[in-house]
Amino acid sequence: MDKLLVTGPGRLNGTVTVSSAKNATLPILAGALLFETPVKLVDVPKLNDVATIIKLLESMGVKVERDGKSMTLDSSNVHNLVADYALVKTMRASVLVLGPLLARFGKAKVSLPGGCAIGARPVDIHLTNLEKMGAKIQIEQGYILAECERLQGCELSLSFPSVGATENLMMAAVYADGETIIENAAREPEIVDLANFLIHFGVTVEGAGTSRIRIVGTNTQKKYAATKAYRPIGDRIEAATFIIAGLMANSNIVVNGFEPWTLEAVLETLEKMGAKLTRLEDGVEVHPSGRLKGAVIETAPFPGFPTDVQAQMMALMCLCEGNSIITEQIFENRYMHVPELTRMGCKVTLKGNAALIEGVESLSAAPVMCTDLRASAALVLAALTAHGQSDIQRIYHLDRGYEDLEAKFKGLGAKVERVK
Ligand code: EPU
Repeated sequence: MDKLLVTGPGRLNGTVTVSSAKNATLPILAGALLFETPVKLVDVPKLNDVATIIKLLESMGVKVERDGKSMTLDSSNVHNLVADYALVKTMRASVLVLGPLLARFGKAKVSLPGGCAIGARPVDIHLTNLEKMGAKIQIEQGYILAECERLQGCELSLSFPSVGATENLMMAAVYADGETIIENAAREPEIVDLANFLIHFGVTVEGAGTSRIRIVGTNTQKKYAATKAYRPIGDRIEAATFIIAGLMANSNIVVNGFEPWTLEAVLETLEKMGAKLTRLEDGVEVHPSGRLKGAVIETAPFPGFPTDVQAQMMALMCLCEGNSIITEQIFENRYMHVPELTRMGCKVTLKGNAALIEGVESLSAAPVMCTDLRASAALVLAALTAHGQSDIQRIYHLDRGYEDLEAKFKGLGAKVERVK
């Protein structure tokens, strides 16, 4: 099993370009199932989660050709409408094949994802709304069995703006009879990107990025096609990770390849804490800002503070002047980084879904263990600032969602080594 050896503390400098967003790429890859004509994508990140969804699509009969970071997916011969437990259990986003399969083939058998390290994560919002569109859904032996003649366009109102449910329903609506309105839809930039991908193929989608999305359905005879390749948006969560690293190292770096509006809640919070940032057209310049002040934050659906930056923010707060409070509102078990950060000298007290962070002046290196993707990123950030060499184990969690993380940090001058 690979591990990272990180030696700190040190200054960072230079420019880093983030990869395309994992959470934009995964629904777009599932969306390739909708179209009979080939889907061409560029800048597809090399991530374990991307490899998992590709494996799933291939198991269904999708032909996938990869040329460097470009990819062509041909779904003209899909013959297997089953998403097996073996693949779904390793990555929940596999459930995103449900909407496209039902829409195009009227049938799907998808393993229930089950819980994961950060929370129970049910899919009730996906299923009840597909039922409202006319799907007959049963749960048998751990699988979702879904069937329909043709989905019916209708007005849906989500009980919570779930990102995955919004994506599944948007894709399901593509071949529904009539138009579908999704009220209380998720507003994340990755939703806008999925809409743009569908629009790129000729589907009529309006309102993505607001709480009300409208999709005009058509029958499966319509041959949607696109000649040009689609590029998923830059990864705002990866960008936030580097911006926080720059601030923790009191350094001047440029993080580009993403649109700053997608990260506004994080940038505003950092500025309130004393960070000096310049918004660029396709990124952010971080200026040396000294020791930042503590803050009070609460995670929330977009445009609120993203849960996917909570762990990295905590690593920064551990070194701030004064106390900070984080309230995690999206996932019930997303504090697994806390015991590991504590081993490096962080002072964090948990009470329910709140964390009280007492700022300390410095951290010390320690052997630590990754528990989930963003928790791992927080450990890397802490290790870059801690005195000595930290040994970060189980980095397969990082490889699920950060492309070439150690190479990118090395490019900024950090002392990071991957040991096989
Ligand atoms: N929820 C339900 N029922 C549902 C769906 C969701 O109760 O039917 C609950 C979940 O249990 C959770 C909350 O609603 O407590 C938010 O879930 P959501 O459906 O919005 O999240 P997701 O689609 O499962 C995506 C990202 C996550 C990110 C969340 C929130 C992908 C592949 N994953 O998950 O990314 O944290 O949205 O923004 O897009 C990560 O990248 O590290 C990651 C976990």
